[in-house]
Amino acid sequence: MNQESQSAVVVPDTSPVAGLEDYLGGFIDGRPLPGNLADALRYAVMGGGKRLRPLLCVRSCQAVGGDVDMAMPAAGAIEMIHCFSLVHDDLPAMDDDALRRGRPTLHIHAGEAMAILAGDMLNTLAFELLAQNGGDVRLIEELAVATNDMIAGQVYDTIPDFAEDVEPIDRLRSIHENKTGALIRCACRMGVIAGGGDAGQLEAITNYAEAIGLMFQIVDDLLDVTQTTEQLGKAAGKDADKGKLTYPGLLGIDASREQVVDLGRQAHQALNSLTDATGEGGVAGLRELADYMAVRLR
Ligand code: IPE
Ligand code: IPE
Ligand code: MG
Ligand code: MG
Ligand code: MG
Repeated sequence: MNQESQSAVVVPDTSPVAGLEDYLGGFIDGRPLPGNLADALRYAVMGGGKRLRPLLCVRSCQAVGGDVDMAMPAAGAIEMIHCFSLVHDDLPAMDDDALRRGRPTLHIHAGEAMAILAGDMLNTLAFELLAQNGGDVRLIEELAVATNDMIAGQVYDTIPDFAEDVEPIDRLRSIHENKTGALIRCACRMGVIAGGGDAGQLEAITNYAEAIGLMFQIVDDLLDVTQTTEQLGKAAGKDADKGKLTYPGLLGIDASREQVVDLGRQAHQALNSLTDATGEGGVAGLRELADYMAVRLR
């Protein structure tokens, strides 16, 4: 996981979410809003993101026999929640970051009041989108629970209130499974639900998602200490500065990388009971994403 190994990183096929920006842009433009608020929403959502949660949602939907269109409302909704979480994560009262996706963070670009309000709105817009596109209450519940788990995770991360006898490694797992794992798990589960998957498929993909969700944040922690700001498009070296509890901080870089490999193995294993129902490459796509997420460099 260094600059030299960059050429070895497999870039996942993002074609299933090629229509996402137009879809979300059309949704934002389609409702009456103050112009400066619409600009802030578009700034937060468009450009630069890896779109991994929408991709996981679509691939999970395809893996159980659904198609891209069936997954799109859920894929758009999870990305709006993710963007809301990033806008608020970067605020001065939180991680206090000035750079995101290679650009000034929203509060630097449009001011703190606008960043707070645009983040608030992305949160509720996600539910408006789901309600207007089928309004499946199971999707709405999945997204609501995961969003609340993410917020709880941000509290564990930023203003922790653990009982004294909770071990550091257990604190860390709680932080990571909630602040990051919850939305990744939700992306996959919503894809399965939107695609009409059965209980066995939901369980298999949930197990996959829990493994890659924790893995994703361990890699994020590793990248913070191994990559440059320029490479990441967000400030490197921030976690130690902010006194964050992280995997490399607690276990060291090598042991953290071993955890990543182990979680990757668990993710692949979880998919073994699934066969590609549609031939659209859903299961293969999920495998490709797990591999990419383990070795990504941004
Ligand atoms: C960053 O997520 C925030 C974390 C949960 C670590 P991503 O690395 O998926 O961010 P974008 O969407 O690609 O910018
Ligand atoms: C972010 O974790 C988690 C959420 C935004 C919910 P980090 O604070 O580590 O994410 P980055 O490193 O700023 O992207
Ligand atoms: Mg944070
Ligand atoms: Mg942060
Ligand atoms: Mg981070």
